Amino acid sequence: MKFKIVVIGAGKIAYSLSSSLINANQSVISVISRNAKSAEALAKKFGIEHFTYDLKNIPGKANLFLLTVPDNEISKTANQLSKLKLNFKDSVFIHFSGAENISILHSLKSKGGRTASIHLMQTFPSKKIVKLSGVYSAIETDDDELFQLLKKFCENLGFVPFRIRSQLKPYYHLAGVFASNFMAGTMFIAKKFLEMNDIPPEYFFDLLTATVYSTLDNIKKIGPSKALSGPVDRGDLQTIKKHIEAIRKLKPAGKFDSILILRNYLAQSLNLIDVVQEKQTKLKESQIAIRKYLVQELKKIQKSI
Ligand SMILES: NC(=O)c1ccc[n+]([C@@H]2O[C@H](COP(=O)([O-])OP(=O)(O)OC[C@H]3O[C@@H](n4cnc5c(N)ncnc54)[C@H](OP(=O)(O)O)[C@@H]3O)[C@@H](O)[C@H]2O)c1
Repeated sequence: MKFKIVVIGAGKIAYSLSSSLINANQSVISVISRNAKSAEALAKKFGIEHFTYDLKNIPGKANLFLLTVPDNEISKTANQLSKLKLNFKDSVFIHFSGAENISILHSLKSKGGRTASIHLMQTFPSKKIVKLSGVYSAIETDDDELFQLLKKFCENLGFVPFRIRSQLKPYYHLAGVFASNFMAGTMFIAKKFLEMNDIPPEYFFDLLTATVYSTLDNIKKIGPSKALSGPVDRGDLQTIKKHIEAIRKLKPAGKFDSILILRNYLAQSLNLIDVVQEKQTKLKESQIAIRKYLVQELKKIQKSI
């Protein structure tokens, strides 16, 4: 099936996706975005002739609609598309959300359209183009034939496609949130702790990432549990108590919300008890004592809120 592609939503992911499509000689015939200037900018960047802000102007030959609008606009965009005069039976509609499943495209499916979602496990913090070769792409569809078609389509773009089930998709998305989003949040806190030590700001990135990269390298080689080190792994309750005492002393009006940091510290450390359990099979007495202490502290702050 030769696709005539329309990109709807000229935002962050659309730039990288369009770059991959054009590089793979796919036929992108139009860009549509709420703001005409955004549509024009994306179209001009990749030499796409047609752009518009109005879905009604979609070229009639379009048969693959890539909905790269934000999650909270997917349903509305699908509804608007479903009211147009399109050849639904021969058209494929895809959204790119990891959190939403294909039921959000039901208005298009009820018109006979073929629906799917493709989630790229990559981060697009800006419109700067991210190379997508080798990116893992989760395809969700209840149409086996369409899955095969999209698998080839993704492979042609250099992605690594695989299928996911609609009901389990939130857990797949949570994996990305924990691995990527929460890491950014954790580094945000780490940077503030460095700032308290009068360490030159130009050291921050290298200082933090040196250890992060070696941890990532170990995770890749031996798995997350075996890659763990630090006080929970060592069974070092004394250090954990010192950390908690230091967090409690943080001024609420300063850079930190000490209660939030404390809850975060306690929850993350308790999670590490599970990690250690997998690493060693059985917890040491010192680690059992740490778990007891962490649970007590967590209960204390829950009462105080
Ligand atoms: N960013 C990531 O890291 C990432 C990663 C994986 C998956 N995704 C998924 O990719 C999708 C797009 O995310 P994004 O980060 O690229 O979003 P984004 O940067 O906010 O871009 C979406 C663009 O769509 C346009 N738009 C908004 N409402 C519209 C509407 N009703 N009709 C037409 N155009 C509309 C807006 O452009 P104008 O207002 O300027 O026209 C907006 O800039 C989401 O489903 C998201 O979950 C994102």
